[in-house]
This record gives sequence, C-alpha cells and structure tokens, in this order.
Amino acid sequence: MLKDLFGTGGVLEPIWGWPPPVLDPAGPYAERVTLLAWVLFAMGVVVTAIIIAALYVAAKGPKEWRQKLGGEKAIWIGGIAFPAVVLTALLIWGLTLTASLSSAITGTEPRVRVTGEMWWFRVQYLGEDGEVLIEDANELHLPVGQAVVLELRSADVIHNFWVPHLSGKKDMIPGRTLLLRIEASEAGRFGGVCAEYCGGPHALMGFVAVAHDPAEYRSWVAARLARSAPPAPPEQAPQPVSTPLPGLAPQRQLAVAGNTAQGRQLFMESGCGACHRVEGTEANGLAGPDLTHIGSRLTLGAGILPNHRGTLVGWIGDSQSIKPGNRMPSYDRLSAEQLNAIAAWLEQQR
Ligand code: CUA
Repeated sequence: MLKDLFGTGGVLEPIWGWPPPVLDPAGPYAERVTLLAWVLFAMGVVVTAIIIAALYVAAKGPKEWRQKLGGEKAIWIGGIAFPAVVLTALLIWGLTLTASLSSAITGTEPRVRVTGEMWWFRVQYLGEDGEVLIEDANELHLPVGQAVVLELRSADVIHNFWVPHLSGKKDMIPGRTLLLRIEASEAGRFGGVCAEYCGGPHALMGFVAVAHDPAEYRSWVAARLARSAPPAPPEQAPQPVSTPLPGLAPQRQLAVAGNTAQGRQLFMESGCGACHRVEGTEANGLAGPDLTHIGSRLTLGAGILPNHRGTLVGWIGDSQSIKPGNRMPSYDRLSAEQLNAIAAWLEQQR
C-alpha cells in the first residue's frame, strides 16, 4: 500500500526522497556498504553454483568424478578448507569495513546528535563543546564532500538510523551513544528510515538528509542560527494579504490566507506549547518535535508527507488518521479556518 502511495508513478511523487532505495550509494560510506553487499551476493551465487554442479555430478556425472566427489579429500577441501577460508576472509573484511563507518571523530567534522523517539527523530546540531546550536527534527542538512559524525541515541525503545544512500545502518539504543559517519558526494535529498521495529507507526518513522554545496550549507546554518527574534506578537496588526483574491471581502481574504496572529493565539491556547517548543515564544515543550524551523522543513509527520499548507492543516486536524498511534492527538475540534490560521503561523517559523 505504501508503495502505491509513495512509489514512482503513485499518487504522491517522492520529491523528498522517501522511501529510499538501497544499493544506490551517493557517498563514500554507503559505497563501502554497497560494495560489501554485492560481494556477499556474488559469493552466495558462486557457492550456490558450486553446490548445484556438485549435486549434478553426484547424480549424473561420470563414475570417476563421482568417486572423487565421495572421497575424503573432497570433504577436506570443499567441506572444511574452502568455507573456513572464504567465510573468515569475508568476516574480517566485513568487520574492518563496518568499523570504519563509525570510527571516532577527529575533532574537525560537524557533529549532530540524532535521537530516536516514538516515532520521529530529534536532530541537534552541536557546537565544539557539545552544546546544542540548532534544534530540528526529522531531517539532517550536511555539506557535500565532508564527513559528518552522528551521535545516535534513543529516548525510549531501540530504533535504527538508516539513510541507505549515505551511510551504514545503526541501532539507536537507550542509555548509549553510538557514532556513525555519514557523507554525501553529491548535492540532493536522500530519504532515510527507522530500520528497527519500534512499535506502533514504526513503518511511518522516516527521515530526510539534504546535502548542500558547502557555501549553501554555511548559509543554511547561518539562517538557522539567526533565528532568535520572536515572531510577530498577537497584538500587532496582521500583515495585509499579498495576493488578494478577487471578490472576497477583506476579512475573508485574511481567513483564506490564514490569520497568523490568530494562529499564534490558538497554538498557545490549544496547549501545543506543552509538547512543542518554538524559539522566542512561551511554547517550550520538549516531548514533541521542536517547531522553531517547521516552516522550512521538507516533511511532516517524520518524513512521510511533503510540508505545505494543505498537509500542515491535515496533520494538525487529524494526525491520527495519517499516522495512527502517533503521540499527537487529532485537533478535530478546531474549524478549518482555525487550523488554517495555526498552519499559517507555523509556516512563518523558519
Ligand atoms: Cu523507530 Cu522503528
């Protein structure tokens, strides 16, 4: 069903890269994992072919071949030496390769803490002393051509972080911090998933990584860091609608565009701030995703919907139908106009 919805040619184009294909690397770490996967597939094919050939010889081959196959030498070589050598070599190579995906930081890479929560990812960009510089959720921005070290954690149960285009795959375990390197060699958007069953809407716990050219990445960081000025307070007159709709009274224009002052007030009065934080406002909840930059995020609901006015209204009004079991109640008691106002205000949080 998900493939019908999100696969190419489906109802929604996966413009934000979700769900991601595997074995399509776009960075050095994913390339290593992909190479390992292909070598393991190839060895599997070779060994299977040898076994089929041996079975054929045993059943229908010439007599002296069958005798050789039944001899002690064949067992020592084919049954003990060959698998021992091949499997040991593959094991050593595989362990060395996977260790290189999580080697310790050198101190120069950007460091981002990603915490798995039921059922979304908390994303915190860290400074040199480990302080949190930028709070975000469900997406990771990184510069092309530079390794980023992720600190993987969990707030509740075991999750698993996986962006198949860019990195290996690693569990997020409560009480532990595991490191994972991620790097993109080209700009683009790359989908990710939680790859460990974590209950409820696990299958709808997605992620998107966005690789920018380095200059663009620096301006992305600067823009997020600059977000300190509080947004327009409610008593301030709402801005006029920039593109008036013909034939609508001024008050209706505002309702259609979304009355952001009303939206802010509704957001606070409805208790959204108990779970969500918005920098510069009294909303300081930590249970749910930080909404300080919600307006610039690509997705809603943890990687499952593109972020625009329609999906934002739908998510606030009835998130339980979109992602059943998620921890945000459906605000279906709010009217369309009220939902639109909240969505309009949230869109301004960038
Ligand atoms: Cu989190 Cu599966």
